[in-house]
Amino acid sequence: MRILTGVQPSGKLHLGNYFSAIHKILNYQEKADLLLFIANLHAITTFSSKENLKENTISAALDLLALGVNPEKTIFWVQSEIPEVTELSWYLSGSITVSQLQLAHSFKDKVAKGFTPGAGLFTYPILMAADILLFSSEKVPVGKDQKQHLEITRDIAERFNAQFGNILTIPEPDIDESTATIPGVDGAKMSKSYKNTIDLFGTEKEIKKAAMSIVSDSKEIAEPKNPDESVIFQIHKLFLNEKETSELRNRYLAGGVGYGDLKKSLLETVMDHFAPFRKKREDLQNDLGYVNSVLNSGKEKAKSIAEKKIKEVRDALGIYPFSIK
Ligand code: ADP
Ligand code: TRP
Repeated sequence: MRILTGVQPSGKLHLGNYFSAIHKILNYQEKADLLLFIANLHAITTFSSKENLKENTISAALDLLALGVNPEKTIFWVQSEIPEVTELSWYLSGSITVSQLQLAHSFKDKVAKGFTPGAGLFTYPILMAADILLFSSEKVPVGKDQKQHLEITRDIAERFNAQFGNILTIPEPDIDESTATIPGVDGAKMSKSYKNTIDLFGTEKEIKKAAMSIVSDSKEIAEPKNPDESVIFQIHKLFLNEKETSELRNRYLAGGVGYGDLKKSLLETVMDHFAPFRKKREDLQNDLGYVNSVLNSGKEKAKSIAEKKIKEVRDALGIYPFSIK
């Protein structure tokens, strides 16, 4: 089974990213062929400066390696290192209509927020389809917000195959409904763009500030509290097994503990959980030569897969190498 996913290098990773996408893909590397890349070409749709893009790309590599990406088991590379993906994206653009792209939520949401969209934001799902199809991915773990992009990918692949022959593998989305939407400190979906995140590698002070700012109702210390309505509980339970979750649930229901203390327990859990990863990230930061060599070797492996597939596609289109005969 070949599993692929991409992570945008668009800033600091947060709990939403971790518990939806990253945690899950790390489990896969034990039992499947995992391909993982840093989607720096997608990040060009929100480009600010080359320094910033580079810094965020390095930072994403450090984050993912620190969290447990094992380069012995996983092919790990930077998207732009495989230019075949942009070539494939052009070929695929004939297999989707403008009106279908206009329906993409990710595009519509950004436009609704007042963003003047570049064409890149509009064609973003085609590039994502190319990422997936170039590597014949069978399964693509993503958050719920990417579901539509996966549907578009499948449509593109089916239409392309119908026109040019059975060349592309139709991927299955892999979306875990139980962790589909992780709330941020204000109760809305945790997202960088809402500035409501708890970041994995923030300073202790930043994480504390975020945890202590989680919204709650105004119940007194003595009163019983409803865990199902508490954002603190919703976030805390992500770290717990069944037994621990039920113990925490009882703590809420029993009353006698204030939201301040419940937030402090959550903070402790977050800090303890990520302590080893934070240490690993510091070590990697001091050994960027190693990180570079990991990405280079990932690039070589990804390239050999990409080159084969792009050749099949070029052959099907009859365009390269071009020959009169
Ligand atoms: P952000 O919304 O902060 O910009 P990204 O779009 O970079 O996050 O998300 C990267 C990955 O993490 C995607 O697979 C996305 O679906 C997932 N993800 C992000 N935030 C959440 C969340 N709050 N709940 C569930 N999954 C999330
Ligand atoms: N669009 C995805 C996101 O914002 C990132 C991404 C790019 C991706 N290409 C991909 C995810 C291919 C899965 C497969 O999270």
